[in-house]
Amino acid sequence: MSKYRNYSKEQLILHIEKLEKQLKSTKYGLYWDKEIEPEFTIEYSKKNIPILQRIRNLTIKEKDNDLNHLIIEGDNFHVLTTLNMISNGQGFVDVVYIDPPYNTGNKDFIYNDNFIDKDDGFRHSKWLNFMEKRLILAKSLMKEDGTIFISIDDNEYFNLKLLCDKIWGEHNYVGSFVRKTVSQRAMSKYFNNQHEYCLIYTNNKDLFPLIGRKKDFSGYKNPDNDPKGDWKSSDPTMRDSKNIFKIINPITNKVDIPPAGRGWAFTEEKLQEHLESGKIVFKEKHRKNERGFIYKTYKSELKSHNLLLNSLEFAENAYLNQVSSKELINIFNKKTFDYAKPLNYIKDLISFFPNKGTPVILDFFAGSGTTGQAVLELNQEDGGNRQFILVTTNENNICTDVTYPRLKTVITGIRPDGTKYSDGISANLHYYKTDFIPNVNNRDQAKYNIVERCNELMCIVENTYNELENNEKYSIYENNSKTKRMFLYTDFYEEKSFNEFKSKVLESSAEVVVYIFSTDNVIDETLFDKDSKVQVKPIPNKIYEIYKEIIEGIKRG
Ligand SMILES: C[S@@+](CC[C@H](N)C(=O)[O-])C[C@H]1O[C@@H](n2cnc3c(N)ncnc32)[C@H](O)[C@@H]1O
Repeated sequence: MSKYRNYSKEQLILHIEKLEKQLKSTKYGLYWDKEIEPEFTIEYSKKNIPILQRIRNLTIKEKDNDLNHLIIEGDNFHVLTTLNMISNGQGFVDVVYIDPPYNTGNKDFIYNDNFIDKDDGFRHSKWLNFMEKRLILAKSLMKEDGTIFISIDDNEYFNLKLLCDKIWGEHNYVGSFVRKTVSQRAMSKYFNNQHEYCLIYTNNKDLFPLIGRKKDFSGYKNPDNDPKGDWKSSDPTMRDSKNIFKIINPITNKVDIPPAGRGWAFTEEKLQEHLESGKIVFKEKHRKNERGFIYKTYKSELKSHNLLLNSLEFAENAYLNQVSSKELINIFNKKTFDYAKPLNYIKDLISFFPNKGTPVILDFFAGSGTTGQAVLELNQEDGGNRQFILVTTNENNICTDVTYPRLKTVITGIRPDGTKYSDGISANLHYYKTDFIPNVNNRDQAKYNIVERCNELMCIVENTYNELENNEKYSIYENNSKTKRMFLYTDFYEEKSFNEFKSKVLESSAEVVVYIFSTDNVIDETLFDKDSKVQVKPIPNKIYEIYKEIIEGIKRG
């Protein structure tokens, strides 16, 4: 018997309305089993607040400037959470490049401490759960015009496209391109697959910085003082054009016709216009086999000054997998890691971006650290100020034994075995690691626990890594160029120590940022003179609130 028999008319109407609503809200898109098996990593962060601690004996300080690169060891969900906590709700990353596990079923993707096999019926659901959580956090770290590149292969390409459409919106999809991975026939029974993909999304396509290399304008000159400016002689013919007619040079009587299979790039009517405007000019002298006229392309006519990144840019042998194996062996003098990307691939990709200011490049599946080496080399080549943030787990000691020593080798020029690798690329590098604070129910206690251990996090925020003082009540840090100081008062107010702290703040001639512990996010305005140039900010409310928001978002699903 139908369960609806006993429904009243009102109940039935309510039920139909509910079903109607559900029908209307069901959209085209990607559906997967989100409940199948919660991820330990995520569950752990509900009960523990992730923070970052600096491993100071791994600091490399080779330059006096304020460009500081970061390697962060830990699960990227925790690291992306902490980066969000200190981002003040504002994106600061220009470019994200990631190379996540492709979920091949061949021991590449670990979910809850297990490798996911091809015959796991929920393998796609687990991968999507894993990626969704991280991509959402990455999106909020990106600037409004920030861009993300995600390498992927056939195993998850189509799921990833739909997942990213869900996160960024289909309209913020920029495109995808292929990279040729192997030069020879791949071992497949059905199909010869020689490439993988890379998807590109941006937070706001209207602001998207057209990614491309600067066009080479060296060939554009103005020897005849053409009022339309610099020009270059270009090919006046096009393949399959129907514009086939004779052009006779009235000075030399030379007759030009387009070569076989081609026609002119203009109609006969347009030819007259071009002659009148000076875009086509007859030559007064020419060799026998030379064309009797010049067809000009003006610099001002070019639609864009960039050569856009195109979908087949990396479809050449220069970017094959085998290239990267040799690059890593050259650093360590032995085999260390099998899945690195070729260095010139990441370098060429990053170099498509405008190199203005201090662009932040984030890679949160950093593996052997190719992205870090690419940034260092590009900065050296073009004098850029790009900053890298690399995040990776320490699975099989990759972070401590490969990522860090690789970058140390590139910076210092000395390999881990003591031999010379290069002249070095001087730079500053800090090594951080995730740590946790229990998320206690008492909010004020939780905030106190955070502020007690947030020094090293705040060094990242203010870019001040040199500790000048650190005691139970307060600490002081300075940047490399000694132009800025960060003061942190990390305890409850106590007159004697606060006055001592205050006099140190006021003594400083550098730019000053002061953080004061406050459980209610309010600071007594009278603590510092009104007209002093000191910037005072409460801590750690914003950090705590963002953590709470992330956890609430996870719970809502
Ligand atoms: C395919 S590799 C990336 C290789 C890198 N592009 C390179 O050139 O060396 C993926 C890396 O992500 C790391 N990884 C996997 N899951 C992670 C997670 N949840 N958090 C951080 N790193 C993770 C793995 O340890 C592995 O080193």
